[in-house]
Amino acid sequence: MPGSPPRPRGFGGSGGQNMAREPDKALTPATLVVLATLGTAAIATTNPGIVARITQKGLDYACQQGVAVLQKELEKITIPTFSGSFKIKHLGKGHYSFYSLAIRGFQLPSSQIKLAPSEGLDLSIADANVKISGKWKARKNFIKTSGNFDLSVEGVSISAVLKLGFDPASGHCTVSCPRCNNHINGVRVHISGSSLGWLINLFHEKIESSLRNRMTSEICKVVTSSVSSKLQQYLETLPVTTRIDHVAGINYSLVAPPTATTDNLDGQLKGEFFRWAHPSPPPFAPPPLAFPSDHDRMVYLGISNYFFNTAGFVYQQAGVLNLTVTDNMIPKESKVRLTTEVFGILIPQVAKMFPNMKVQLVFWASSPPHLTMHPEGLVLTPTLDAQAFAVLPNSSLAPLFMLRLSMNISVTVGATPDRLVGQLRLNRLLLELKHSDIGPFSVEVLQAVMNYVVPIAVIPKVNERLQEGFPLPMPKNVQLFNLVLQSHQNFLLFGADVHYG
Ligand SMILES: *[C@@H]1O[C@H](CO)[C@@H](O)[C@H](O)[C@H]1NC(C)=O
Ligand SMILES: *[C@@H]1O[C@H](CO)[C@@H](O)[C@H](O)[C@H]1NC(C)=O
Ligand SMILES: *[C@@H]1O[C@H](CO)[C@@H](O)[C@H](O)[C@H]1NC(C)=O
Ligand SMILES: *[C@@H]1O[C@H](CO)[C@@H](O)[C@H](O)[C@H]1NC(C)=O
Repeated sequence: MPGSPPRPRGFGGSGGQNMAREPDKALTPATLVVLATLGTAAIATTNPGIVARITQKGLDYACQQGVAVLQKELEKITIPTFSGSFKIKHLGKGHYSFYSLAIRGFQLPSSQIKLAPSEGLDLSIADANVKISGKWKARKNFIKTSGNFDLSVEGVSISAVLKLGFDPASGHCTVSCPRCNNHINGVRVHISGSSLGWLINLFHEKIESSLRNRMTSEICKVVTSSVSSKLQQYLETLPVTTRIDHVAGINYSLVAPPTATTDNLDGQLKGEFFRWAHPSPPPFAPPPLAFPSDHDRMVYLGISNYFFNTAGFVYQQAGVLNLTVTDNMIPKESKVRLTTEVFGILIPQVAKMFPNMKVQLVFWASSPPHLTMHPEGLVLTPTLDAQAFAVLPNSSLAPLFMLRLSMNISVTVGATPDRLVGQLRLNRLLLELKHSDIGPFSVEVLQAVMNYVVPIAVIPKVNERLQEGFPLPMPKNVQLFNLVLQSHQNFLLFGADVHYG
């Protein structure tokens, strides 16, 4: 609805986030398989990492906002003075002039943007009217007379085609107006201010046709230039690359021209994390997205698992997915301590070889974590390596053993009005002993300790980062509200209504 305020954080009951756990009920698994197969067969080029969709509801809102801007531009149309001479029986010759003409208002009560498949968008405006006022004067020999007049141009209709494209060099969306027509039903003049008004009324046809010609030629000029300057500039406020931190950025470039179907306008975005210092393509490709036909929100983003997996890839390759866990990160009241005494209960040689010392655990991702998305939810299956050290009295580290941790983690993705946030919950942890510096022992003895340490010291650190979130691609002055999130096969569907202003 126009002017309804954006709803800030705090919708739903879950701490300002709308969790993506709802399975999609509209598509059966069989449909998904069929769509996925069709998708793979039909799309020869690479799939986008993100599909951005604007529904008719979104276009209706965009139309209101756009037409409000257009109205201001149309009101700037200037109308030149027009003058001429007359010759009337018995009266003879004289001269008249209409000047100081100014548009008092350009009303655009009815406008619409429709999808024109294969062309782009059709803008149509009907029943517009223009109020103009000005002054007139007339002179015949020594008689001078003058006054004001009001004029209305009625039943103005405008139709224009908006052609959308993209600039491969910048990744931005482009828009132009290759066709524009307008039509004016009538012009009505009301003269006031002099007993000779009747005289001027004699020229109304002339006034009308001059005005009609002027308006007809100016309206489409204004439409065309508003599209190629104002609208184009606005589209360029959509971020193409966004820096996230010292490691990574997100590439939101368009990879193809936007396509208009009968129901939606779709944009294909790269949707990829990249190393800020050394961008290079990841060794995997985006899956096809079987976008559902939801249309009750203005915009939707289909965010494929590719987007999240490139994040995992980039951060893992940068060597930043590591974490050192020390005893002071374990709650004070806990009986499990990172000490050689406690580890010595499980593996006696630890206490014997390194009596009364702290133990340090260094975790790192040995391969990029992989996220899978299903209608039932999101699962992350990272493999971490963990090296345990005893901390010697002079602070050097003595290696104890190295473990491999294969994990199964549920991911809950949430959204705030401008970011995606996430939260992890450990489901299962499998341990494997990769190497021991303290002789053989059975890795099962460590299961309970790791089942405790990972959720209490590792997962919360990752969650802290995920709660900061990742920015969504948004143009200037736009707020999102009424957010919805659903997980689907291989992608997350994010929907929202938009408030501009
Ligand atoms: C972003 O993606 C576009 C399209 O694939 C590509 O041309 C551009 O180089 C990429 N930018 C970065 C920084 O990776
Ligand atoms: C993680 O790895 C990076 C690069 O390899 C290193 O600079 C950093 O100190 C490590 N951090 C931790 C907590 O081990
Ligand atoms: C720390 O102590 C250990 C054992 O006492 C010794 O082997 C090591 O060289 C010492 N390291 C430093 C940096 O002094
Ligand atoms: C992860 O765990 C869930 C529930 O415990 C299970 O349904 C799913 O199959 C597991 N996924 C993987 C990839 O191991």
